[in-house]
Amino acid sequence: MTTVGVLTGGGDCPGLNAVIRAVVRTGAKHGFDTIGIRDGWLGLVAGNVEPLTDYSVTGILPKGGTILGTSRTNPFKNEADVQRLSDNIRKFGIDAIVAIGGEDTLGVANKLSKMGIPVVGVPKTIDNDVAATDYTFGFDTAVSIVTEAIDRLHTTAESHHRIMVVEVMGRHAGWIATVAGIAGGADEILIPEIPFDLDEVTRHLKARYERGKQFSIVVVAEGAQPKGMKEAIAQSARTDEFGHVTLGGVGNYLRDELEKRLDTEVRVTVLGHVQRGGSPTAHDRVLATRFGVAAADLIKEKEFGKMVALQGNDIVAVPLEEAVANLKTVDMDLYGIASIFYGG
Ligand code: F6P
Repeated sequence: MTTVGVLTGGGDCPGLNAVIRAVVRTGAKHGFDTIGIRDGWLGLVAGNVEPLTDYSVTGILPKGGTILGTSRTNPFKNEADVQRLSDNIRKFGIDAIVAIGGEDTLGVANKLSKMGIPVVGVPKTIDNDVAATDYTFGFDTAVSIVTEAIDRLHTTAESHHRIMVVEVMGRHAGWIATVAGIAGGADEILIPEIPFDLDEVTRHLKARYERGKQFSIVVVAEGAQPKGMKEAIAQSARTDEFGHVTLGGVGNYLRDELEKRLDTEVRVTVLGHVQRGGSPTAHDRVLATRFGVAAADLIKEKEFGKMVALQGNDIVAVPLEEAVANLKTVDMDLYGIASIFYGG
């Protein structure tokens, strides 16, 4: 009997439960037992696991979050933790691990794979910045939430003749800002990939007023920063175990700067974790399910050290190494489409 351990690491994301369900159900068809590892890599270090049965995954498909819990634990920060993790893999008789996560969780998976531990990765993040896959699940849900928020902000912005700044997630990549911004008809989209020029933003917004449009919507990714600023604006300097600070504040920065430059009221909405919570869209449920099925199939074929990925309409397997080599930043052709509408 093959025993598969499954874990979810990093920030949660709609669709995690759909993957877990698919791994358990497909695994059962292949004759596997599945163990749920609690709270990402922390569960393997601490030996916190539980059996996952068909019954435990009943009804979880549409549920947001993760029934397994998550954490940003990095076992490689400490050699003793790597030893504990290896000991627990043996202790619980785990033959293969399905690691569902973004750059950090998959980075750990890749290191463990290089140590000879059988691992398969599943790409997750609302940020959509994992390389080698066209999309991660969770992204579509976040985009839907942000688009709805922009639509709502539009009507109130128009009524009050205000500039509305919407701060959205996106640490290293501005996928959410770009796609939701296009979908919501944003008048300016600021992303981490392109440091912004406040004078240029001001010019675009002024051009709208000159055309008689007395309101504007500016979408800014939390990781965006003005030209010349060395680091993104953070809520605090405290870092997680992978060295990331908690971002936040660029929306307020923009409000202050734009109010200085334009004689108009500017308001800020920070969407924050609302973007990560709640039920996944149908698209994300299907993608997550396809990923989970493919991950269990890879284990059956003993294809370890790989990550399932979406390329075109196909689910494929790519080396974990390739997936974690760099981040997938925004397609500049797509961003170019967004910028056609600035100043209009
Ligand atoms: O999962 C990615 C992400 O949502 C980033 O966009 C964001 O910077 C980060 O997670 C926030 O993480 P936390 O919930 O730990 O503050």
